[in-house]
Amino acid sequence: FEHGALSGLRVFITAGPTREPLDPVRYISNHSSGKMGYALAEAAVDAGASVKLISGPVTLTPPSRVDCVQVETAEEMLAASLDGIAGCDLFIAAAAVADYRPISVAEHKIKKGNEEIMELRLTKNPDIVATVAGLSEQRPYTVGFAAETRDVIGYARSKLARKGLDLIVANDVSNPDIGFNSDDNAVTLVSADDEVALPQASKRQLARQLIEQIAQHYHQSTK
Ligand code: C5P
Repeated sequence: FEHGALSGLRVFITAGPTREPLDPVRYISNHSSGKMGYALAEAAVDAGASVKLISGPVTLTPPSRVDCVQVETAEEMLAASLDGIAGCDLFIAAAAVADYRPISVAEHKIKKGNEEIMELRLTKNPDIVATVAGLSEQRPYTVGFAAETRDVIGYARSKLARKGLDLIVANDVSNPDIGFNSDDNAVTLVSADDEVALPQASKRQLARQLIEQIAQHYHQSTK
């Protein structure tokens, strides 16, 4: 390649949480900071890729030279992910997508009633990375993340198979020093036939190592 491990490649990266509205003023979401996905976008650009970063609502500034598409809901994230997917070589799903969304969005603010208990009905969101990995034509090399609290490699391996991924980044979130919202992370990159452990480092350093490793696996697969 000319410069960098991803030179000439088009990379899509999902990052951050999704936000699933209940009514015009409320939503369901999670604590994802988007740091890992944003760090991966920066590392991929530095490795020579052209990057589309599909981001849920976060407080980070998109890295320069990255085409950042801002979305809110899982359905919007799926649509932005599929837009132009035929030209995408490598898809990395680092977003913490809400598994469920409210079955309907109230047109007006839901008023407080007299009842002590209020029930919400939720419906399953589309699985974005599994949808991309399942494309029959023009399927990009597909990488997911697995945040687990126990049997991290075992669950990551079953997720790799179930979602039809090429690689999965296994992340032990039982350790509060790494993972969600922290500046550091430690991961194991798992494929069908190998495992590469990347020890605790800043998300920025780890992103560089991950991009190098992902690029090696990608180039191996296209040989
Ligand atoms: O199934 P689980 O949420 O643990 O899988 C995590 C992986 O799947 C991450 O790569 C995440 O970005 C992706 N994912 C997705 N769409 C969903 C749920 C998860 O792309 N609806």
